[in-house]
This record gives sequence, C-alpha cells and structure tokens, in this order.
Amino acid sequence: MIEGKGICKSFGNRVILSDASFLIPEGQIVGLSGKSGIGKTTLARIMCGIISPDSGNIYRNGAALWVNNTYKRTEGLTIQMVSQHPFSSLDPRQKLISGFREIIHYHHFASYGKETDNLIENTAREVGLTMEILQQFPHQISGGEAQRTVIARCLLFKPELLILDEATSMLDVSTQANIIGLVKRIQTAQGRSILLISHADDLVKATCDRIYEIDHTKFRLLPSDSEEQKEI
Ligand SMILES: Nc1ncnc2c1ncn2[C@@H]1O[C@H](COP(=O)(O)OP(=O)(O)OP(=O)(O)O)[C@@H](O)[C@H]1O
Ligand SMILES: [Mg+2]
Repeated sequence: MIEGKGICKSFGNRVILSDASFLIPEGQIVGLSGKSGIGKTTLARIMCGIISPDSGNIYRNGAALWVNNTYKRTEGLTIQMVSQHPFSSLDPRQKLISGFREIIHYHHFASYGKETDNLIENTAREVGLTMEILQQFPHQISGGEAQRTVIARCLLFKPELLILDEATSMLDVSTQANIIGLVKRIQTAQGRSILLISHADDLVKATCDRIYEIDHTKFRLLPSDSEEQKEI
C-alpha cells in the first residue's frame, strides 16, 4: 500500500501542494484529477523520486521513501511512472526493442536470448504493440505507439504502483479505455495498483475505485461510480 501524508511543495513563493494526504490501497486503481497546472505531475514526480517534497512523505507499506531529502531508490523502483511526454523516455538513437533488452538485462528480468525475446513479445502484446513496431526508432512511431511502448517498459518492472500521467492522452477515447482496461487487469490481478492522472473525467469515473481531486493546493476525495455502486 502506498500512502502520502502531509505533502507540501512550493516553487519559489508559489505553493503548489499543501498538506496532501492520500491512500492507494493494493490492487486498486486510484484517479487524480484537477485543472491544468494545479500540481498533479509535481505530486507524481515526488512519488517516484524525481523531486523532493518540502515536508511530508510517501510511505510504502508504512516505510518512508524520502529520508533526509534522499529517495530510497531500490524501494522506489516499485513505483513506475509513465510521463506525459513519452518521447522523453525513449533514446532517439536506439531501436525500441534495444531499449527493452537493456532494461531486462540491467535488472535481470530474464536471461539472454529466447527468454528475453519471449518477455518482450508478451509484454508488447499486452499493450497492443507488434514486434514490427519495436524494430523502429522513436522518430518513426506515432505518439500513441510511444505511449504504449513506455507503458510496456514500465510493466516489465511489475511495479507495485504504476503512475499513468496522461499516459494515454494521445490515443482516441475508446483506445484509451481499452489500454487502461488491459493495464488495470494486469496490475490488479496481482494486487498491484495504478494512479491514473487524466483530464478525461468520464474515463476516470468509469475506471477508478477512488478519485482524488487537487483544488487550490488541497486534496479532496471524490465519490466515484464504483463507490456509489457499493453504497447501493
Ligand atoms: N521545476 C519547476 N519549477 C518551477 N515551477 C514549476 C516546476 N515544475 C512545475 N512548476 C509549476 O508548478 C505548477 C504545477 O505543475 P504540474 O506540472 O504539477 O501541473 P499539472 O497539474 O500536472 O498540469 P497539467 O494537467 O497541465 O499536466 C505549474 O504552474 C508549473 O508551472
Ligand atoms: Mg501534468
């Protein structure tokens, strides 16, 4: 379970987050909404160790991830983020498949050869990517294909929490719902979770177990469709 407690963050004298607290239970998909520029990506970056909070902390099963302004990298590997800008996580000089191989070998996710190829093929298939696309360089693929690629790379880590920050925004609405549905099944079947940051309110309402909204630096828990259904 991932928890945020009392997170505050300012840039200069501009307060972005004040006392943000939230809970992401195991096996659930949690939505995060709020106006553009309100602080959603800022929170995601704090959660996966890119920027530090001014105060407050992120906890994984009760253990703080930020200690003395340093992020616990090893523990933090269990939080993976797909950013709004998929091309920024892809090396322009490298075929997509080489990037997969590099991650798999660096983190010992599979042995060289057939086992690696199988893992790449299965993971790619899960997000609707073909092996032909993986033979391309980043400049040869579409924005949607880049998003699928980055999602698939994150799935290799089997992260306890996958943060999708507008990660399917380059796809049409029905494809977005399809990919989120697939990723949700993969993640939640094994008790893993998703934080879905999206402007697509309908998608968030239809897929999330709980929804937070950031409003004027504050966090608010919104009723979601599924919670309403539970009450009936
Ligand atoms: N490193 C930084 N230095 C200064 N200001 C920053 C920095 N990063 C973000 N900001 C500012 O903090 C605010 C929140 O940014 P953030 O990217 O978290 O918004 P967001 O909710 O993700 O917006 P969007 O929905 O458009 O992606 C913005 O006004 C942004 O300009
Ligand atoms: Mg953002």
